[in-house]
Amino acid sequence: MTEQSNKLRQLHKLSALVLLVFITMHLGNHLSGWFGIDAYNQVQKAFRVVYRFPPIEILLLCLLGVQIVLGATLLFKSLRRGRPRGFWSWAQVLSGGVFLFFIVQHLWAFYVARAAYQLETDFFWASSVMGGAPFIWYFIPYYFLAVFSVLTHVGTGVRYWVIDAGHEKVANQVGIGFMLAGALIGAAIILVLTGALYDIPLKPEMLEYLRDFYPEYTPPTN
Ligand code: HEM
Repeated sequence: MTEQSNKLRQLHKLSALVLLVFITMHLGNHLSGWFGIDAYNQVQKAFRVVYRFPPIEILLLCLLGVQIVLGATLLFKSLRRGRPRGFWSWAQVLSGGVFLFFIVQHLWAFYVARAAYQLETDFFWASSVMGGAPFIWYFIPYYFLAVFSVLTHVGTGVRYWVIDAGHEKVANQVGIGFMLAGALIGAAIILVLTGALYDIPLKPEMLEYLRDFYPEYTPPTN
């Protein structure tokens, strides 16, 4: 591995550590939906004090932009070196690729919802695409894979750390632990957003927003 790739990898790990603070808050916010819509929106309001504080929001979005570019560069360099070898290399490359695919769309959708539609990006926005077909066919795997891929990708990084620290025996268990956590948290968030736990009203402004993408959309009646 070249000196340059090593530097990129170090930078990638460093910004991942900072971003993990936001990701933990963000996934925690979605899980708080198990206690109801008000609980979700109250938790979001509390967390926004931190990540919507303009200097922090700018830092967060810039750091995520840098992480996307670093990740794409490392992905490209790794594939140019040849096919990944073994389970963990495939897990790292595939989870990185899937997360890249998700986060670019997610940030764009977030920007369009706020800037073009002036929508409140709270629980009702996140759940608006989880109410019925055809949106659910895309957004259930999209949101599930978002959580599964980010925790799998972090898990493969932590696994290398555990190996470097000389604990090879537990390294695979640590990696598998992150993947299982990703699958469980992903499934738990999907149950919240699809209304499996309680009925979720679709606000008129969200229906209008969805019909801009699919004019024939008719939300299922309860
Ligand atoms: C199930 C998965 C996810 C759902 C349902 C979801 C939903 C949301 C919602 C509702 C917002 C608006 C927040 C607000 O207005 O305060 C948001 C913003 C955002 N999400 Fe996610 N998200 C998911 C996964 C992720 C992941 C894995 C990341 C990883 C970095 C991420 C990064 C962001 C960022 C950076 C913002 C912008 C925050 C801001 O500037 O206010 N999201 N997402």
